[in-house]
Amino acid sequence: MCGIVGYIGERGAQGVLTSGLRRLEYRGYDSAGIVTLGANNQATLLRAEGKVSELDKLVLSHENKDTVGIGHTRWATHGEPSETNAHPHKAGDIYLVHNGIIENYKELKAELKNHSFESQTDTEVLVALVDSLYDKETLLVDAVTQALKLVVGTYGIAVVSTREPDVIIVARMGSPLIIGVNDDETIIASDASALVGHTDQAIYLNDGEIAVCRRDGVELQDMSAQPISTRVETIEVDMQAIQKQGYDHFLLKEISEQPVTLRSTLSGRVNVEDKLIKLGGLNLNTEELRGIEHVTIIGCGTAYYAGLLSSYYLEQLVDGLTIDVATASELRYRSFHLPKNTVALVVSQSGETADTLACLREIKRRGVKTLGIINAVGSTIAREVDGGVYVHAGPEISVASTKAFTSQVAAMIMFGIQIAQAKGVGVQDTSSYIEELDQLPNEIEAVIANYKEQISAIAKRYAHYDHALYFGRDTLFPVALEGALKLKEISYIQAEGYAAGELKHGPIALVDDTFFEVALLLDNWLFDKSLSALSEVNARGGHVFAITNSKKEIDAEETLRIDTKLDLLAPIVINVVQQLFAYYVAVARGNDVDQPRNLAKSVTVE
Ligand code: M6R
Repeated sequence: MCGIVGYIGERGAQGVLTSGLRRLEYRGYDSAGIVTLGANNQATLLRAEGKVSELDKLVLSHENKDTVGIGHTRWATHGEPSETNAHPHKAGDIYLVHNGIIENYKELKAELKNHSFESQTDTEVLVALVDSLYDKETLLVDAVTQALKLVVGTYGIAVVSTREPDVIIVARMGSPLIIGVNDDETIIASDASALVGHTDQAIYLNDGEIAVCRRDGVELQDMSAQPISTRVETIEVDMQAIQKQGYDHFLLKEISEQPVTLRSTLSGRVNVEDKLIKLGGLNLNTEELRGIEHVTIIGCGTAYYAGLLSSYYLEQLVDGLTIDVATASELRYRSFHLPKNTVALVVSQSGETADTLACLREIKRRGVKTLGIINAVGSTIAREVDGGVYVHAGPEISVASTKAFTSQVAAMIMFGIQIAQAKGVGVQDTSSYIEELDQLPNEIEAVIANYKEQISAIAKRYAHYDHALYFGRDTLFPVALEGALKLKEISYIQAEGYAAGELKHGPIALVDDTFFEVALLLDNWLFDKSLSALSEVNARGGHVFAITNSKKEIDAEETLRIDTKLDLLAPIVINVVQQLFAYYVAVARGNDVDQPRNLAKSVTVE
């Protein structure tokens, strides 16, 4: 949520900052800005409402050779998207960019009588606060440290001053920051993707740490100004993975690359010959796995739905295991109770979602073992869990999450199999899962190749509707929820997901000509029951698009029958169909599918 970049080195800062902001734009895209520091205490502040391309136009007419600067791409929290509310914000000689939320900004603002506020942001309060502590004898790092002691909330910040043009101060509390280091330059970013092509050597800042960044190095300190030794790590982000590679949109690329990314999830973990699973990073021995009696799964949005779908598989796999699944934004404020011998699965693509992180910390505080099901390597959640599984789906740039869902579900199924096997469930009882996991990438590949055109044509038929109702039973219920989320976030069609059996308890009242319905049906023992729900919708004049793996007769306006060998895992393939459907509907409606309105990729505010 929001992106930060900073540069101090020998190269032109404007170019490094704007190219970094373009990489981070998926994190927030309602306004953007940069400030660079030049000779004679001059600063060039450029800010624009809208996407980074608007800022680029400004930079073209204000080009300079400054070699120090900071930049930001914003997702509005306090104050509308506008040039005035865009970062960097200024007070006195200081410029500051900020991710996160200053919760006590109103109280602080009331004290800062000497600053005349221009914006509605909490960030301007922070820069004014730093400025109020920055007298002639004080160093910027000390003023920042003092100011942060007065702040309640979350932040990742980068700060510069025209009085000290050879230094950038950065600090973190709850909002990620990475500092890339080269011999003669230092690059700051809120996400490793902005460092790609510059360096693979970086320091991940921890909460409560402040860094003094210079051209030739970085010094770390804590909030009491005590030095901390620096920890340079090698980051691995592949340039190819953050480019569109010929696709019209990142979303289509990410949907299409699922066969490859899923193979990475499964690689080295599924042994089809011996029908065994080996997840390396759980940090649980067989005895501990055997002792698990309860699994709590937490996540937000798509990660939550991945958890919900996985819970159906886990309870099928492990007899007697109890499972609950919760949205982290709710659970964190509930008086929840975790039974003895619980393991918590913390599911997140970005590994930075604020609600999920807060829940993780609360669960850990209660002494419960936590395992991450995480995509972003080195992310905050990944570093704070006791163990876990990196899903290795590669960078997800499009705001709508697709490939991460598929890999998260696969990872949690593997986890379920590993518990089952530790508890003595015979290899023959888990073998069909293992075989289907092994076949899943090929099946997804075939479905994308064989049905893409048909899905695109069907999407055009439904693109003009204002409302949609998705429904499915059993494992297809969470898939219906995820399908509805995908459609609403990129097409802006109001979409609801329901358990098929629940339609008659209320939602069927919605059925009219402004709605279309997506009916999900599996060719299993619940097929006839699912068909009844569909018939009830038809009887009320519904406009049903049915997606199924069945060859049985179905009465619907449109039916897409996918030919797949899979049985247990067919819902995951059906979800890929839904992803493509949502994509083509959004394209037909002319929407910005990769950066849908009002959203941001990684939600690091509450
Ligand atoms: O990074 P996370 O997986 O923790 O993100 C959770 C949600 O914010 C995310 O899944 C969101 O719902 C997506 N936009 C859904 O496509």
